[in-house]
Amino acid sequence: MPRPRRLLITAGPTHEPIDAVRYLANRSSGRLGVCLAQAARAAGWSVTLLLGPGTVPPPAGVRTLRFESTADLAALLDRHFPSCDVLIMAAAVADYRPRRTTRSKLPRGRRVLTLRLERTPDLVAACAARKRPRQRIIGFALEEQQRLATRALRKLARKGLDAIVANPLETMGADRIRAVVYTAAGQTVIPKKGPSAGTPAPQTKEKFARWLIRWLDQPRPDARQPWPHTARSRRRR
Ligand code: C5P
Repeated sequence: MPRPRRLLITAGPTHEPIDAVRYLANRSSGRLGVCLAQAARAAGWSVTLLLGPGTVPPPAGVRTLRFESTADLAALLDRHFPSCDVLIMAAAVADYRPRRTTRSKLPRGRRVLTLRLERTPDLVAACAARKRPRQRIIGFALEEQQRLATRALRKLARKGLDAIVANPLETMGADRIRAVVYTAAGQTVIPKKGPSAGTPAPQTKEKFARWLIRWLDQPRPDARQPWPHTARSRRRR
């Protein structure tokens, strides 16, 4: 029997420490990543979930490792990315973090406190830069509706991903998602079509997760090129 394929999923927010008790965070709930982990496990994948702080409870029966900060998640990816077949990077990783953190609690002394932030390393781009030829990476783009497609396509290319799930800002922390998937081969896939052409309808995160996991296994419409296509195939088009 072939061994089950290995799926690594990241989910939830990061907490970037300011001092001993405070942090910078975002509203991600981790719900979508948890749904993906459950759907993948049910479909026979061997799943590892890297789950951020303050999220929905981890799913039963899925190997789950917890992280707090971008630095923690980077260390977990260093350890677990090399042995996965597919990485789904659903975590809402901070783009900026405090440049300095203090071990003690900052006192409420000054009238104005300025935090200097530095850009975090782009973790998914770093994974893409060192992936093996058969490894595949799916990223996420959360943007305002008007800029969603343009920015998602830019991220797909800039980060070297095989596919990207574009979803509008309201998705964060919500029960439903209105997703469009763009692949590096230039395909646009809408899991659930809306009433007007080319627009997605909302669906529960559970349904979207089951769809995405089925989609990972599907042969592509162009049967000569099994999914996911590589960035090279996009340039050839
Ligand atoms: O650049 P942006 O944060 O919009 O990109 C979103 C995608 O990049 C997500 O898949 C997210 O997990 C990933 N990301 C990352 N490292 C960062 C910021 C985002 O891997 N520092």
